[in-house]
Amino acid sequence: MSTRNRVAVMHGVNLDMLGHRDPGIYGSETLAQLEYRVHGFARQLGLEASFFQTNHEGEFCEYLHRVPETADAVLVNAGAWSHYSWAIRDALEVAAKPAVEVHISDVEAREAWRSVSVFDGLVAAKISGRGLEGYREALEVLVAELDL
Ligand code: DQA
Repeated sequence: MSTRNRVAVMHGVNLDMLGHRDPGIYGSETLAQLEYRVHGFARQLGLEASFFQTNHEGEFCEYLHRVPETADAVLVNAGAWSHYSWAIRDALEVAAKPAVEVHISDVEAREAWRSVSVFDGLVAAKISGRGLEGYREALEVLVAELDL
């Protein structure tokens, strides 16, 4: 197995509430169920996924600080932080690994503030409104980015 195949799958604020928050928008699957499925997608693509979620912005940044040692690529769904946390953008830039931004819901079709992304220009792709399938698509983009 290649040593360039480790993907950090990072979920930010309120994503631990999947399965409890607005199922009409986010579906009924819990974060644990979603992670289990994403782990399977990753395996199918020859990737090794690790998972992290926090509701604390500093912890999210500190996890990104460790990414150069722990992962080869990043799949990030930072929740609402995606729309305003320049600190997390900076930390992702410091990580300096291929990254893809994912949103379960179609952020462009919701409130205007959700269309803004701090990750613009930093990520290889932004995938939104594709639900769980968006995670598979993000992993496919990372396979190409890692040249696996
Ligand atoms: C989200 C979209 C964000 O706007 C929202 O704040 C979330 C979840 C999504 O996955 O659709 O918490 O990132």
